[in-house]
Amino acid sequence: MSAERKFFVGGNFKMNGNLESLTAIADRLNSSELDANVEVVIAPPACYLASLSSQLAQKENVNVSAENVHQAAKGAFTGEISCSMALDCGASYAILGHSERRHVFGETNKQIGEKTKATLAAGLVVIACIGEKGEDRKSGNTMVVCVEQLTAYKDNVEDWSKVVIAYEPVWAIGTGEVATPEIAQETHLNIRSWLSDNVSPEVAASVRIIYGGSVNGKNCKELASQPDIDGFLVGGASLKPEFVDIINCDC
Ligand code: PGA
Repeated sequence: MSAERKFFVGGNFKMNGNLESLTAIADRLNSSELDANVEVVIAPPACYLASLSSQLAQKENVNVSAENVHQAAKGAFTGEISCSMALDCGASYAILGHSERRHVFGETNKQIGEKTKATLAAGLVVIACIGEKGEDRKSGNTMVVCVEQLTAYKDNVEDWSKVVIAYEPVWAIGTGEVATPEIAQETHLNIRSWLSDNVSPEVAASVRIIYGGSVNGKNCKELASQPDIDGFLVGGASLKPEFVDIINCDC
């Protein structure tokens, strides 16, 4: 957490919930007192974007994100949604390059780069996910993998104020095995150094680098106290009441 960078907490609902349970989450956000210094974004399944964004329309600092978008403007891509469709449904962000998109659906860095270009051109903010597998960390290749992924974003970004980087080690996602604050801080700092050397020191100082992977109401405070952790992308715990505690972890 740093004074210059606004803390960011995203909730990635993945393919969970239904109209009733997700409406209840939006109700909870609407009726809770949320730290005004935190940018909150929830990412529901695409079919609930419109109803949740209208439900949250009056709540300052809470916005809605697509979990994924396609890079093409339109066409024969059964099951996909375009950036303009996400915008139409009230989204102002899109999560790209999530580990599940990469490792379950086989998205490549090239494709994620194309999505980045299309998403930024459409006016959505990109939540740009990166992260190594357990085997990469064990073999000392964490930054090799992260740099490959970061490079695919960099080649398609002109305005870094429209990008939030989400470092999500694959071994920590949905496993309950959260990265220690030291491990997360070290990797965040390495990412920031890479940005300084390969983009600019100004971008490195201003871009938010958020952590994801088994964040919950108990471990968030210590992670948030690290100087290069600027927020969280929360999966499982974003569906629970403790999401509000995570948003307010610095209060
Ligand atoms: P998790 O998921 O919090 O359930 O580990 C994080 C994510 O996939 O963004």
